[in-house]
Amino acid sequence: MSDAEEQADRARAQDDGSPLEDAAAPIQHVAPNGAEPRPDAGPRPPDAGPRPDAAPRPDDHEAPRRERGKTVHGALANAGHRVLAPDDAEVEAYLETALNAPAPERPTLDRPGGAVPRGEGSRGEPDTVVVLDFGSQYAQLIARRVRELHVYSELLPFDTPWPEIAKRRPRAIILSGGPASVYEADAPRPDPAVWSAGVPVLGICYGLHLMARELGGDVVSVAKREYGPATITFSGDSPLFAGLGPEQPVWMSHGDSIVAPPPGFRATAQTASTQFAAMADPLRGLYGIQFHPEVGHTPRGREVLRNFVMGIAGARPTWTAANFIESTIDEIRSRVDAQARDSGGDGLVICALSGGVDSAVAARLVHRAVGDRLTCIYVDHGLMRKKESELLRVTFEKSLGMRLVMVDARTRFLARLAGVTDPESKRRIIGDEFIRVFEEEAAKLGRIDFLTQGTLYPDVIESTTPETKAAQKIKTHHNVGGLPDDLRFTLIEPLRYLFKDEVRLVGLELGLPEAIVFRQPFPGPGLAIRIIGEVTAERLDTLREADWIVIDEIKAAGLYRSLWQSFAILTPVRSVGVMGDGRTYANVVAIRAVTSEDGMTADWAKLPYEVLGTISSRIVNEVPGVNRVVYDISSKPPATIEWE
Ligand code: XMP
Repeated sequence: MSDAEEQADRARAQDDGSPLEDAAAPIQHVAPNGAEPRPDAGPRPPDAGPRPDAAPRPDDHEAPRRERGKTVHGALANAGHRVLAPDDAEVEAYLETALNAPAPERPTLDRPGGAVPRGEGSRGEPDTVVVLDFGSQYAQLIARRVRELHVYSELLPFDTPWPEIAKRRPRAIILSGGPASVYEADAPRPDPAVWSAGVPVLGICYGLHLMARELGGDVVSVAKREYGPATITFSGDSPLFAGLGPEQPVWMSHGDSIVAPPPGFRATAQTASTQFAAMADPLRGLYGIQFHPEVGHTPRGREVLRNFVMGIAGARPTWTAANFIESTIDEIRSRVDAQARDSGGDGLVICALSGGVDSAVAARLVHRAVGDRLTCIYVDHGLMRKKESELLRVTFEKSLGMRLVMVDARTRFLARLAGVTDPESKRRIIGDEFIRVFEEEAAKLGRIDFLTQGTLYPDVIESTTPETKAAQKIKTHHNVGGLPDDLRFTLIEPLRYLFKDEVRLVGLELGLPEAIVFRQPFPGPGLAIRIIGEVTAERLDTLREADWIVIDEIKAAGLYRSLWQSFAILTPVRSVGVMGDGRTYANVVAIRAVTSEDGMTADWAKLPYEVLGTISSRIVNEVPGVNRVVYDISSKPPATIEWE
């Protein structure tokens, strides 16, 4: 494990000196709409993706299926302005608002180190496990679990033609679960070459049933679906279950069941409800399991995946932050050099810094590759939180010695926001003004060849289901492929292979401060959408001070990383109060703190009363013009996280 990874592990376990569990303990979780709390729904670091220990919801076979990307009313959750992957208020969000930008073209075969020709098996091209996505909500989780073993894993649609899969030189293939039954007429199937290519295959749940059915076994739909915990007993000595002992608790979610395995296979595990909870044909390298090894409710599931990926398939654990950084830097440098050579230009690169972790990590990587050929542009629109702009300056300019253009556009933004109270108008104005400032600054730098963006892997994954395809389309809007014609760059997207938690590891390894690496999400339009009503310099100052106190106290209580977001809102309400002998008539500040997995749904955080009390008295005492503090106890849906 590299230093950065150890640091991240420590960071996960600690927050400002307190163990995360202890710090988080006072917060209870209630599902939106008053549903029973999920037993697993404890707080967790923001952006950590699907909960590894989450009690799986009955997606694969049992109703109700979660409608991804939809509100309770069936409308697209982010209809209009909201970004679907909102965990970092990147400039793309502004650009999306300002331009109806189409997604950029990306080559079909796009893998780490792919742009630098190397021999097979070199560090530039990591050993790869392809996960074919049959529509399970855990498909991404499988890929992430494999990557936690330091083996690169790529998620592809179930119907990817074999030649496309083969180009990735996969060491192994995993077939995910999925909501279909193998008996449905249009049940999704992989290219049959998957079975005979000589690459080890692991079928999980639906993947197992497909393997059984396609290769000549018998699968039936069982009357009573099995969903939930089960105890599995291993028979024989399958290498898949090496080191696990004779019995294990596992998580099941299926409606089909195998009654006769295909020729060449033998059963390797049983549960009370099936003789064929796992099967294997080791000679052909084909393995199938009924349970879900990727979820936390299968406690030894990671070992099953490790046995398959590293033991059976022999993949090497080279997917580390350090290797990624090295090969990515090589790749960026050779791309920029080649273009400069071919075009006679200087190979200049720009990057718009937003203050979020993605653009920060992307910029740092590119800087390591091309040095001063990179200029970062930070548009200070005056809507950032206290000390945020300063942190960027100190980090990028002073500590890292990077070229940083900090544009003080505060007056411009304030002037355009004067008198505006409608939330959508605020967003449009901010997006539009951002583009103008960005264009002006870029034009001053001469001929720019490349634009760096912090696009992440979940934004690039090709989706399988119609809903996710639709959501995908919206998500890709917040990309800059559609910049105006006179502002066309080639994109450098060094993070397009990474999940958010991997970005943080890379950020730590690159030496970025934890204040940037573990920052809570912050919306593109900044404090403007947390000031209800008109945005003025004075109201911004009031909110900034109140917000600072919220963050300060949340951090002091060791809760910062266990919350998705925690912040203050300046309401348009004034209320009567008493201070000393005098009567006051002053602003009401609201506090919002939520836990969430992805920002699409959120629970209000059950903050300890003491913490709320301290926040309240500090705000009233320290922030001029505020005499009352209220706590927002609405979940999303039906409320949103932001107030505007
Ligand atoms: P809502 O308020 O829709 O927010 O529940 C979900 C997540 O999205 C963030 N958010 C935004 N991010 N530009 C952004 O970059 C925006 O206009 C925007 N609006 C909301 C919000 O902070 C939360 O994390």
